[in-house]
Amino acid sequence: MSVGRTTAAGGMETSYGFRQVGAGDKQPLVNDVFHKVANRYDLMNDLMSAGMHRIWKDAMVAWLNPPKRTGWKVLDVAGGTGDIAFRIVAASRGNAQATVLDINGSMLAVGRERAEKKGLTENLDFVEANAEELPFADCTFDAYTIAFGIRNVPRIDVALSEAFRVLKPGGRFLCLEFSEVDLPLLDRAYEAWSFNAIPRIGKMVTGDGEPYSYLVESIARFPNQQNFAAMIARAGFERVSFRNYSGGIAAAHSGWKL
Ligand SMILES: C[S@@+](CC[C@H](N)C(=O)[O-])C[C@H]1O[C@@H](n2cnc3c(N)ncnc32)[C@H](O)[C@@H]1O
Repeated sequence: MSVGRTTAAGGMETSYGFRQVGAGDKQPLVNDVFHKVANRYDLMNDLMSAGMHRIWKDAMVAWLNPPKRTGWKVLDVAGGTGDIAFRIVAASRGNAQATVLDINGSMLAVGRERAEKKGLTENLDFVEANAEELPFADCTFDAYTIAFGIRNVPRIDVALSEAFRVLKPGGRFLCLEFSEVDLPLLDRAYEAWSFNAIPRIGKMVTGDGEPYSYLVESIARFPNQQNFAAMIARAGFERVSFRNYSGGIAAAHSGWKL
């Protein structure tokens, strides 16, 4: 069923799920997926993960532990509908300034609407841009976060270098992503759920299962915890470490620009 994970040496740039595509062809296909799913994205996240994504996002933000003072700036890349940025602002007791960056205007539009409803517009700004080419000066942010986004970015090495560039010295990189399950029975149950149930639920809820097949396949292709940690270190980050959540279904990776 699966064609195996890519390694630290690369391969994600030309892998659109299990399909091989030309360099430069992946991003438009990914954009199409998120334009299609934007309006149902939050509902589908709950259905696909049985609500678990909320727990993993809370755990990631708890690990980030944003300071409760003004002037601290975080960039949430591939921030989509704002889940991570909203949590960070709440954890900073309303003090953090968060920039939500995403390549997809449809996802950001949902995020903006949610921010208005939550009364959080003062703390947030939304920027439509590519993680591979961040429109910010060097050493701008205290933290860079990215949740369930990096596997969708074609040139992960370039995105990691950009993360390093825009962080201030002493800044923190934190990435949440689906990863490799390290519990024997859980891995089979998870694979069966992913490949059978998720595209079907996607089709029922949105009328189109294809975007969800891509999401599941892209998870199966993404480098495992150790290989991804090696990529983060190669971008220049130090003290790289990771934490598994739910037996490795998801993992958070941390690194510091020192
Ligand atoms: C699975 S969603 C994650 C959204 C949000 N971070 C969350 O955890 O709910 C992945 C997001 O990555 C964005 N994305 C894909 N490629 C990107 C790129 N090259 N630069 C910035 N964002 C990108 C998509 O538009 C989408 O909003």
